[in-house]
Amino acid sequence: MTDYTNRWSTVQVDVTDGIARVTLNRPEKRNAMNPTLNREMIDVLETLELDADAGVIVLTGAGESWTAGMDLKEYFRETDSQPEIVQERIRRDCSQWQWKLLRMYAKPTIAMVNGWCFGGGFSPLVACDLAIAADEAVFGLSEINWGIPPGNLVSKALADTVGHRASLYYIMTGETFSGTEAAEMGLVNRSVPLAELETTTMTLARTLLDKNPVTLRYAKTGFKRCRELTWEQNEDYLYAKIDQANHRDPEHGREQGLKQFLDDKSIKPGLQGYKR
Ligand code: COA
Repeated sequence: MTDYTNRWSTVQVDVTDGIARVTLNRPEKRNAMNPTLNREMIDVLETLELDADAGVIVLTGAGESWTAGMDLKEYFRETDSQPEIVQERIRRDCSQWQWKLLRMYAKPTIAMVNGWCFGGGFSPLVACDLAIAADEAVFGLSEINWGIPPGNLVSKALADTVGHRASLYYIMTGETFSGTEAAEMGLVNRSVPLAELETTTMTLARTLLDKNPVTLRYAKTGFKRCRELTWEQNEDYLYAKIDQANHRDPEHGREQGLKQFLDDKSIKPGLQGYKR
């Protein structure tokens, strides 16, 4: 088991019992995402992807915030004076982890939203496969309040999860909403009292750990891609994913599942997973 203590300066990583807890760790700045954090998160995600001990990733924030969004000082003001090519690189790092890596990540990901979640934070929030929020968490598309339209892929993330009216309402007013409201609008799977956030999220993480990891990977990437394809393209693509999963799965889950239901009559797949 790798000890990641102090490996990164803005992110804390702990892997225990198959669950990698990734904590954005700038509590004094409400975990605002600065260029260092963005660069480190690329390394964190690439490292954990190859760590066999990390089966599920839980992304959370230190202190009272999930993240206050992009760092207004370091990501915006200080970057404005950098050469254009450096600005490009800083922007690319941001996209690289916040949605390019995270969205199609090889392992299941859960956003555990413990507090403030603003602006740029919506990209990694939506890029995570699942999300559980504290009822008390406060969400906001605050960009309008300080003079820009939502940055990076925040609008796309909203368009993929939340309805047209609610998205535009919060984009245009900058009003905040709670974890409970985030659950009602489908931005997160559910919200629970802050005191139960940890237990609820870890129970969900363990449920995912029990599933066949190869099947999970192709199930989630298949779903995420199919939004962008036509019905005909989807037929080809999704069948290719099924074949790819069968081909790559070292534990032959499909055969196991069929055998345990049809021959052994030991499971009911409608109600539980096959015994691994
Ligand atoms: N970028 C840079 N610094 C930030 C930040 C951000 N997005 N969010 C908070 N900080 C910094 C503050 O500047 C302050 O730094 P200082 O101690 O050096 O003065 C520190 O974090 C604490 O912030 P503060 O505003 O005092 O905390 P709070 O608990 O009273 O309020 C927020 C928390 C999140 C409501 C408030 O900080 C805020 O509105 N942040 C901006 C959110 C935002 O618009 N994000 C969108 C970015 S795309």
